[in-house]
Amino acid sequence: MSEVQVSEAEIAVHWREEELFYPPPKFIGQANANDPAIFERFAEKNFPECFKEYADLLTWDKYWHTTLDTSNAPFWKWFVGGKLNASYNCVDRHLAKYRNKGALIWVPEPEAEATQVITYQELYKRVNEFAALLRDYCGLKAGDRVTFHLPMVPELPVSMLACARLGVIHSEVFGGFSGAACGGRIADSGSEVLITMDAYYRNGDLLDHKIKADEAVEEAKKQGQKVDKVLIWRRHPGKYSAKTEIVKGRDFFIDELMADYKDKIVEPVSMPAEAPLFLMYTSGTTAKPKGCQHSTGGYLSYVAGTSKYYQDIHPEDTYWCFADIGWITGHSYIVYGPLALGATSVMYEGVPTYPDPGRPWRIAERLNVNIFHTAPTTIRMLRKLGPNEPKKYNYHFKHMTTVGEPIEPEVWRWYYHEVGKDEAVIVDTWWQTENGGFLCSTLPAQQPMKPGSCGPGVLGIYPEILDEHGKPVPKGSSKAGNITIRNPWPGIFQTIYGDPDRFVSTYYAKYNKKKGSKDWHDWPYFAGDGALLAEDGYFRILGRVDDVINVAGHRLGTKELESASLTVEEIAEAAAVPVIDDLRGRAVEIYIALKPGLKPSKEIEDKVSAPRYRRHLQFHQPRRHHYASQSRDSGHHQASRRVGKGEAWRDPARAVGQGARGDQVFRTGGITDQRGRAQLALSFVRTRRTEPSGAAGVVGAGGHRRRVRLLYIEIGEGAGDGGGGVVPDVG
Ligand code: WTA
Repeated sequence: MSEVQVSEAEIAVHWREEELFYPPPKFIGQANANDPAIFERFAEKNFPECFKEYADLLTWDKYWHTTLDTSNAPFWKWFVGGKLNASYNCVDRHLAKYRNKGALIWVPEPEAEATQVITYQELYKRVNEFAALLRDYCGLKAGDRVTFHLPMVPELPVSMLACARLGVIHSEVFGGFSGAACGGRIADSGSEVLITMDAYYRNGDLLDHKIKADEAVEEAKKQGQKVDKVLIWRRHPGKYSAKTEIVKGRDFFIDELMADYKDKIVEPVSMPAEAPLFLMYTSGTTAKPKGCQHSTGGYLSYVAGTSKYYQDIHPEDTYWCFADIGWITGHSYIVYGPLALGATSVMYEGVPTYPDPGRPWRIAERLNVNIFHTAPTTIRMLRKLGPNEPKKYNYHFKHMTTVGEPIEPEVWRWYYHEVGKDEAVIVDTWWQTENGGFLCSTLPAQQPMKPGSCGPGVLGIYPEILDEHGKPVPKGSSKAGNITIRNPWPGIFQTIYGDPDRFVSTYYAKYNKKKGSKDWHDWPYFAGDGALLAEDGYFRILGRVDDVINVAGHRLGTKELESASLTVEEIAEAAAVPVIDDLRGRAVEIYIALKPGLKPSKEIEDKVSAPRYRRHLQFHQPRRHHYASQSRDSGHHQASRRVGKGEAWRDPARAVGQGARGDQVFRTGGITDQRGRAQLALSFVRTRRTEPSGAAGVVGAGGHRRRVRLLYIEIGEGAGDGGGGVVPDVG
């Protein structure tokens, strides 16, 4: 087996410095964090005790005795000895002051359907009633796992908080994911109960969602996990909106069962700070997603603290995080953070541009939203489809967030001038599912904004860029490397559910300074992102250095996409690669090698476009499929992800041409930075090698040496550039 190995320690990236924008005095005057003394309080010499300030935002049943226990590093334990309940902290404790203030405001996608305001009192009732049902009807107790496959409806936070009330660990799977993807996550978490919804609105259609529950249960069974009960919320209570049949003895309508639990009150179960609150699966470099396990005390403290200082949430604010609760942003910054602070949190069911790109601004005007939070993909889409829409509406934001992907400075400026009307501060928050909350951002009242840069480490977070050998890359050097966090923090996940070895090997092994050490200084956290550190201490994130593609702010594992492709029987090999996409940042294209003797045909194309295949990849439909079949000449051809170095980064084709040692490059794709320079070159080359497996090296933006699964595709005649069928994007 031959292998191309390119060692590339650092890439030089020359980036024009952007101008700084300063927060308006009006914002500074009212901000939660406008006293510079806060930086001193969170200085490294005060670590880890500085995080007491975050934990003190919560109500504890029992105070902790140890702020940070490092005895089993890198499995950090925060606030050890403390006890609390997350549901109590997000609901009950606000009743005295805010009983009839809105906790959640839910905007359904159909504009004619009434907005629902759920007060803290109403939320308290709903959470208690549903907790009673979970406990008494399903027999669930602390430590059990329950999987949700729910869209953006208020029943989702109600279900989360009901579980939290009982100490039951919830695992929400993004509603747009396929039934099969959900089934795998059910099996991995060992859930016996699935909570879903019959249907929901997306782009004007009422989608049958229940059908996915049947697939999920089937897939879970294949993987050895039996689901006893499927609890179904109904989008229109009293009326079943899906076509899929109900399975007797397994499927139950929650609105029918609830009659028996009306007005029931469930005492919140006092949980150790270290008890897991939820799992959130995220794509990894293998086909198996990782169940990130988050704690109760550390996580809730961290999201409350960062919501207060970085989102600047006051209980009087109307805060709208336009993300999906199926991702970590929604967990931390729609549900747990804002509700822990007693804010009013807005949720919207549907797509941003339905029925037109003025919709978000109509919602903002009508509800008097003053804090707005979304991802670059949404901003790009709204900018493209309705550049002048914000002007038409009379809303005023004091604060806006961008999260999930790098934002291009031009897009940032549109967000600032048009959406924010030159009045709102912007925070560009960099973090990950694994992290619980923000890692890098400007502190909005005190640090100026710089388009395209997320800013310095947030309070109590000390990031550092390391090269391949663990040597710090100095600031202002224009060299990229791997961003790491030197210290633990309360929001960090506890482990990968059921796989502690993978937790250590993925995030800590790379830069661990001493095996078995109990000193946190020896365990820098490896984030898997490439970054640059400017002279002023601001980080600019370049993107993933591993085999993960970020589409519209959603992390997709190439392996997971490739495995889904293999469900079509004619496909022998598949390679998912990222390409630049104007709206989504990146899109996926899949290279497909058919089994020997097969040629691309309409039948195969139909299978690839069939709903069953689509369901595996739902919402992340590959933009194109490229086919390859047996070649006429005797040489073998390879499709590889390859790397280049030095100057060649500017020209992926050249880079790969070098990497492939003279093999002919016929198609190149890859990740480029915001100036169009290549960070990751991907190439499909004709090669004369005859081994039946190809070679691939991949180096990300950080330039760290890394090998990925080898891809081998025999490229057929006419496959050329983009030959083969084009499957329309249905996402
Ligand atoms: C990327 C989302 C640039 C990054 C909260 C990270 C970002 C991955 C930013 C995590 C940002 C997130 N600027 N890139 N502000 N925020 N990313 O787990 O590559 O869905 O590793 O968490 O998104 O995605 P995840």
